[in-house]
Amino acid sequence: MLNSFFKEFIRNWREVGSIVPSSNFLIKKMLKTIDFKRAKIIVEFGPGSGCMTKELLKKMNSDSKLIVFESNNNFCRRIKNIDDSRITIFNESALNLKKHLNKQRPNYIISGIPLANLSESDKKNLLLSSYDALIPEGRFIQFQYSIESLNNLKNTFDDVSIDFTILNIPPAFVFSCLKK
Ligand SMILES: C[S@@+](CC[C@H](N)C(=O)[O-])C[C@H]1O[C@@H](n2cnc3c(N)ncnc32)[C@H](O)[C@@H]1O
Repeated sequence: MLNSFFKEFIRNWREVGSIVPSSNFLIKKMLKTIDFKRAKIIVEFGPGSGCMTKELLKKMNSDSKLIVFESNNNFCRRIKNIDDSRITIFNESALNLKKHLNKQRPNYIISGIPLANLSESDKKNLLLSSYDALIPEGRFIQFQYSIESLNNLKNTFDDVSIDFTILNIPPAFVFSCLKK
């Protein structure tokens, strides 16, 4: 797993953004602010090799849905091996969120996309379309290796709380962003 992740990084560092999958410590912090009892629809951007996807599916209700956007073909192929009827996978950019949600409104959007590697306009579009899609009191939860995109998050969402773990390669910030 580690090896194939590194290969994808070498092929396209800008898209993949990391040389290894997230650690269990980071995954725990990413999922900490999710109320799984009430989460009917969860969206995941950039699942990579699926470490957070699998943990989400473990914790989700049996009648909840997970909608996944992964732009990398090889990662997407791996995610498609997950045998669970609650998951829907799009081998597309998360920028196409609106096109596929129709009238569905997610309670949570979990993102591992390297925001710092997106153009300013793609970053703004991604955050705005996520904000629009979420239900009121919904959350956009993003990890990043720096606070470079914090202002974008603060300018889009109504409240942003910040967590941090040193126990990841590299150490990472978790931003849990509320739509009121
Ligand atoms: C840092 S990796 C995180 C992978 C995994 N979530 C983890 O925590 O180990 C970033 C992931 O985002 C994906 N990605 C990058 N840009 C994307 C986009 N615009 N839409 C969907 N996925 C994207 C990459 O292909 C990669 O799988």
